[in-house]
Amino acid sequence: MTDPVLDAIRRRRVVRAMSDEPIPRERVERILEAARWAPTAGNRHLQRFVATTHPGVLRVLRMVSPGMIQHPTAAITICVDRALAQRYGFPSDARGPSVDVGTAMATMLLAAHALDIGAGPVSSFSRAAVSVVLSLPEGWSPEMIVCLGRPAPTQLAPMVSTRHLGWRDLTRWVPDRPPEAPAQVEE
Ligand SMILES: Cc1cc2nc3c(=O)[nH]c(=O)nc-3n(C[C@H](O)[C@H](O)[C@H](O)COP(=O)(O)O)c2cc1C
Repeated sequence: MTDPVLDAIRRRRVVRAMSDEPIPRERVERILEAARWAPTAGNRHLQRFVATTHPGVLRVLRMVSPGMIQHPTAAITICVDRALAQRYGFPSDARGPSVDVGTAMATMLLAAHALDIGAGPVSSFSRAAVSVVLSLPEGWSPEMIVCLGRPAPTQLAPMVSTRHLGWRDLTRWVPDRPPEAPAQVEE
């Protein structure tokens, strides 16, 4: 049986070659709406999303982001509202807000895939420069940029191939064998 959600999880790939065809704002809004449903630590929703389709802003974002290989036509920067996290009592080294960035990012990538939009996350950028380019409010730290655009017909090869890795390579069972299924009792 194929399940559309499992199928999308398996088929989604990072897109690092994008055409210059713009994507409608409505699609970006649908991706943002999907990310709103990502799980968050304590259900506090400390992530803040900064969206742009402005060519000038995108160009400068790319200039300060060595990890941005693609030329996106839209981008969503996922920030953490650190000031709000502090008000809610999260310690400064709490894992929750950082994990929330990951849940939002993964949800955006899948939502984009579902909408036939190419998407690629970028973590390699100057936080100070991105904060200035996006005029981020005091207390917001930019953590991840999700690039969006129409996939170009030819994609770049993955930086590192992990085709050999299966879930068994990533997993340990404790104890080392799953429990036996209970024997069927004949009535
Ligand atoms: C935390 C994190 C940071 C990443 N940063 C970048 C980045 O700066 N630039 C980039 O091109 N891809 C980045 N990626 C994407 C990964 O390189 C990509 O997921 C990986 O190569 C596997 O490709 P796939 O998702 O298509 O299977 C990042 C992914 C994660 C989870």
